[in-house]
Amino acid sequence: EKGTYPHYMLKEMDEQPTVIRKIIQAYESETGDLTIDADILQALQDADRLYIIAAGTSYHAGLIGKQYFEKMAGIPVEVHISSEFGYNMPLLSEKPLFIFITQSGETADSRQVLVKIKELGYPTLTVTNVPGSTLSREADHTLLLHAGPEIAVASTKAYVAQVAVLAVAAYVTAKANGQGVEFDLKQELAIAANGIQTIIDSKDVLEDIAEDYLKIARNAFFIGRNIDFCVSLEGALKLKEISYIQAEGFAGGELKHGTIALIEEGTPVFALVTQEAVSLNIRGNVKEVAARGAYPCIIAMAGVDEDGDRLVIPQVNELLTPLVSVVPLQLISYYAALHRRCDVDKPRNLAKSVTVE
Ligand code: F6R
Repeated sequence: EKGTYPHYMLKEMDEQPTVIRKIIQAYESETGDLTIDADILQALQDADRLYIIAAGTSYHAGLIGKQYFEKMAGIPVEVHISSEFGYNMPLLSEKPLFIFITQSGETADSRQVLVKIKELGYPTLTVTNVPGSTLSREADHTLLLHAGPEIAVASTKAYVAQVAVLAVAAYVTAKANGQGVEFDLKQELAIAANGIQTIIDSKDVLEDIAEDYLKIARNAFFIGRNIDFCVSLEGALKLKEISYIQAEGFAGGELKHGTIALIEEGTPVFALVTQEAVSLNIRGNVKEVAARGAYPCIIAMAGVDEDGDRLVIPQVNELLTPLVSVVPLQLISYYAALHRRCDVDKPRNLAKSVTVE
């Protein structure tokens, strides 16, 4: 129940620190290390390539998961949109493992791929929030998100849970393979949970930003590089689906290849800056759009922030920045939708589980 909250979405965003802490508990062994079921670990260790299949927000989480498995565990990963997968099946490696990321576990587009992959006889793993859901029952293995029921149509806490669980799975696999991971993920996740809490505690700032940038905007852009680019796609999707403002996420470096033509006087551009290695470049992109009249809003992580950044978010492990950087984007979308009197929990044309292809 949403209790005193005006919307499920607000309640579910508020739950995000708790969700991360629950995931730490759920995946903790008796000795206090992070762990996953032995047969799932075996399946991940046996695979020479992972094929992540997902839709919408879950697809965006998959893009982050790719970085985790590649950077921590050294396993190559492809991420595919469920509804597109069948048209041009990728050439498969010798020992593929298919990972279906789905909050509901009921998405027809993803299930269609699962059915086909099972026919072909390849191993499958579903990462879902709903135990006993169709994709959980039909896959060989399930990793649960432990996010609690997500009622609002716009997915928020499930995304954060997906990213965290994918980090756990990649980390545990890396450790089991003897790969040197230089940090303690449990500790880093706890820091990220606190970071999210800090942002949630200063919601008013996000409400102000939403009013300032989006109350009358016709469109908006989200830009970032590397992992920030993946999060910018999710930021744009959130804004589109609940505020009906046309929004797109772009790779900072790609702007000059066409998109920059869309920048007009006052166009809101949200830029994520959480990665030291690309900070200069993305800041360069912000200058380019500002020079063409855009109204930029830089959301930077402490440590890579500069004077004039509109919002500084708490510092977390470089790989875990999506857990924290997505939260201001969710809140900005929420308040933009409120300012524009949209039905936040039940946006037009959308259903919580998409059970048609
Ligand atoms: C966006 C959103 C959708 C879902 C997509 C996949 O906020 O909720 O984009 O992420 O329909 O749904 P699941 O994860 O249930 O397969």
